[in-house]
Amino acid sequence: LDNGLARTPPMGWLSWERYRCNIDCIKDPDNCISEKLYLDMADLLVKEGYKDVGYEYVNIDDCWASKERGPDGSLVPDPDRFPHGIKYLADIIHSKGLKLGIYGDFGTKTCGGYPGSKFYLQLDAQTFADWGVDMLKLDGCYTNTEDMAYGYPAMEFFLNKTGRPILYSCSWPAYISGTTDPDYAQIAKYCNIWRNYADIQDSWDSVKNIIEWFSQDKGGFTKIAGPGNFNDPDMLIVGDYSLSYDQQKAQMAIWSIMASPLFMSNNLRTISDNPKALLQNKAVIAINQDPLGIQGSKIDQIGKYIDVWTRPISPKGKSIAFVFLNLGTAGGPYEVTYKLSKLGAISPAGYNVTEVFNGNFIGMFKSQDYLNVTVDPSGVFFGVATFLG
Ligand code: DGJ
Repeated sequence: LDNGLARTPPMGWLSWERYRCNIDCIKDPDNCISEKLYLDMADLLVKEGYKDVGYEYVNIDDCWASKERGPDGSLVPDPDRFPHGIKYLADIIHSKGLKLGIYGDFGTKTCGGYPGSKFYLQLDAQTFADWGVDMLKLDGCYTNTEDMAYGYPAMEFFLNKTGRPILYSCSWPAYISGTTDPDYAQIAKYCNIWRNYADIQDSWDSVKNIIEWFSQDKGGFTKIAGPGNFNDPDMLIVGDYSLSYDQQKAQMAIWSIMASPLFMSNNLRTISDNPKALLQNKAVIAINQDPLGIQGSKIDQIGKYIDVWTRPISPKGKSIAFVFLNLGTAGGPYEVTYKLSKLGAISPAGYNVTEVFNGNFIGMFKSQDYLNVTVDPSGVFFGVATFLG
């Protein structure tokens, strides 16, 4: 969507994966969907250095609204959990230099059973704009999928009409990609980012399943990505319960190589140092945020378990980011020997190769030379080859 937003993949924090539809603020005041949760996370984004490296959006997901619309038909936040309203939240978040995202649903209800925007698209777009919202994630429960082809564009029209820049995240393809290949070029006209596939859960199986699905590029979504338009494989679960250190590196590396939006869904109050450092790794983020906005893809497989991913990054035609992803689980590190030219590094002048996470210089290589690295089980080697000419 050419609205000046999401020129690189948006970054921020989103409540859903970690906090779900927890609305019991009596029993669980710190973790329920309430203004406190978003204000706390906004605070931590700033204080703990996340904002400085690019995390910008604080995003509300499902279950924020009252079950009934107000007398004038407009959406109202739950009065106990958002006692000061959404505008208040937006003002504080803006005063910290951050942005506020909200959640709606194109159908008659949200997936959690709260009021949906069907028949209220214009009113809801205006309400969000009046509140000072900067991003809308529009889900797709409680509607037939055929209506999406006009409904999602209609919401874009009304958002645009408000005159407020609102980054538009569509769940549209996620609801149709199970049965038919979405028309991604069409979707990209109306949405800044879009969820292609199933929800992420807190498990390596889920991350792996998403990576495998994205590696197939069914419907040709990879080439559609670019400034203003990005495929969204869903939230980062780095810092949550299930992933090992290697698996967290794998999620960061693949989300970076895929030019994916980086929305953490974790507890920034209690996160430990290792995941925090991964989330804030500047070299990883720089590749994710590369201004060319080209989405990387799986180009090869070595043996049964090693996937090879590459992404052209700037300077254009000169640098290539690459990942060897070990989907195997047996034994110790796996040794990978791979000819540089197969990564697309074909210039005869040669390349400097650097490991991304810790910046280690691996060496100078000619395109016919072989790289020799090790990859931990369910881990990655993440590298960049930079042209020496
Ligand atoms: C389905 C979406 O894909 C999730 O990300 C989340 O927004 C839930 N719905 C909320 O009900």
